[in-house]
Amino acid sequence: MFSLPLRDDALLRPLEIWHAEEFGAHLDRAREHIQPWVGPAFVTDDLAGARATLRRYAERQAADGARVYGIWLAGTLVGGVMFVDFDAASGSCEIGCWLEPAAEGHGLVTDACRTLLDWAFTTRGVHRAEWHCRADNVRSSAVAERLGMTLEGVRREAWAYGGARHDKQVWAILAPEWRARS
Ligand SMILES: CC(C)(COP(=O)(O)OP(=O)(O)OC[C@H]1O[C@@H](n2cnc3c(N)ncnc32)[C@H](O)[C@@H]1OP(=O)(O)O)[C@@H](O)C(=O)NCCC(=O)NCCS
Repeated sequence: MFSLPLRDDALLRPLEIWHAEEFGAHLDRAREHIQPWVGPAFVTDDLAGARATLRRYAERQAADGARVYGIWLAGTLVGGVMFVDFDAASGSCEIGCWLEPAAEGHGLVTDACRTLLDWAFTTRGVHRAEWHCRADNVRSSAVAERLGMTLEGVRREAWAYGGARHDKQVWAILAPEWRARS
């Protein structure tokens, strides 16, 4: 299947149902690290759960909606990026991401998100791309900032996790802002 080089030893590829075993093994390495910060449906415990996640994305992609892409570093699936939502008709999308701990700190997610934003704005004519994260997710908001997004607001206590409620930041970048940066 096709893949896009992010750098010498890192590739971005569609993450599909046939990757379920690899995705499940990756989740075993990533689960504890990502659980507080991503949607609960994404963090499953077994192969059936991993397959169900990939099927859900495949079905939504078939309807020109959400999509998910894996990042392989030196041949190992280490994380990925996704369109959590994608709606060409309304011209808006939301991007998300995750990495296992060993893959942090290399700029892989920022590079991968740039690829998604470029496709959304340039190929698909989307006007607005959003990024939602817990307000205390410093590494995630740093990615949004690196991508040139603007912090538009905080949805107070909108994120429930671990018996507590956390504030949620909404970041966004518009097509003309993206073009100006490019
Ligand atoms: C959010 C998350 C994906 C960010 O990972 P990350 O590695 O910090 O982000 P990137 O891959 O873009 O890498 C940026 C880091 O690499 C460094 N870097 C190295 N080479 C780089 C390059 N060529 N380009 C950009 N950054 C580079 C940057 O300095 C930065 O490190 P620093 O924050 O220590 O300064 C990760 O922390 C994660 O998976 N967290 C748990 C799940 C999660 O929060 N998901 C998001 C939900 S909203």
